[in-house]
Amino acid sequence: MISKYRHLIDLNDFSVSEWDSIISLAKEIKKNPALYSHRCDGKIMGTLFYEPSTRTQMSFQTAMLRLGGSIIGFDNPETSSVAKGENLKDTTKIVSSYADIMVMRHPLEGSAKAAALTSDCPIVNAGDGGHLHPTQTLTDLLTLSEQKGTLSGLTVGLCGDLMNGRTVHSLLKALSCYKNNKFVLISTPELRLPSYIKDILNASSCSFCEVDSLEDAIPELDVLYMTRIQKERFSSEEEYNAQKDVYVLDRNKLMKGKHDLVVLHPLPRVDEISIDVDEDPRALYFVQAKNGVYVRMALILTILENPSPTKLFDGKVHAGVCCRNKKCITNREKYLPKSFWGMGDTLVCEYCDERILL
Ligand code: CP
Repeated sequence: MISKYRHLIDLNDFSVSEWDSIISLAKEIKKNPALYSHRCDGKIMGTLFYEPSTRTQMSFQTAMLRLGGSIIGFDNPETSSVAKGENLKDTTKIVSSYADIMVMRHPLEGSAKAAALTSDCPIVNAGDGGHLHPTQTLTDLLTLSEQKGTLSGLTVGLCGDLMNGRTVHSLLKALSCYKNNKFVLISTPELRLPSYIKDILNASSCSFCEVDSLEDAIPELDVLYMTRIQKERFSSEEEYNAQKDVYVLDRNKLMKGKHDLVVLHPLPRVDEISIDVDEDPRALYFVQAKNGVYVRMALILTILENPSPTKLFDGKVHAGVCCRNKKCITNREKYLPKSFWGMGDTLVCEYCDERILL
């Protein structure tokens, strides 16, 4: 199924050369933002945040305002008609008739794709549950490109909640498209990377290993991407308590890192990076967060100035088959058409990537 609008649901809705163009444009905007201050005059962006956010929501809003456009939206669904029971389809349909572009964050996986089915303007995925966060990845790529001068041949450690961390999933998918990166996946056995992302890494030119110890891994890294344990994705407080505070980057551990190590974190941080690390010149997570504005300005311009269709589904409906992922949007919004693509004796949900063994 093809939508006539240019959505960004997953980074692979754009080609690698388009990511590179967005990063180059972001660098140009950063050098001279005034040149771009009227490029979106008269345009309106809708921001629908069904889940809390500081950086993504405000950097998108700042980006649109700095381009000369305007913003509408909500940052709490309880203050909108969602609280009266309005479904995603109707909210999307209505807001997309007011706005030229919509940015949506939602706790359920596949929600941005579901919204794109009925939207009358482009949708940008600002995070769908524990699934994907493609615009955080654009921010990460811009920061890495600035700091390292390349997105290839890097040894990248990713540490923390690799199972639920949507920023990790999107970043690994993206970096695996560049040559000869090596990933060191640092987590407890309970929070390892989902197997569908490992399959993507295995099919790429990149290698990866799974380890338990941050301290042992740090000396070989060019980049360390720390992540928060995603409390809101755990089913009980006990399970969360068993995982929190396992990995803490402090000055002692950082002393073992290379002199040109780049430490990133999508933020918000809880306790996984000590405050005293902030003064180290290798700690670049605040630069990374600020870069979010420039890269989102570049993305908004790219989407609005280069309209083109987006393929939403490759697969087909399989009668009677439902996605087994309880966090998939298709299990909340029952009217949604199910769609799966086949992989041997396995079906893959096209909203959330859950695999179903037949
Ligand atoms: N990195 C990120 O997504 O932060 P927010 O949750 O504050 O938007």
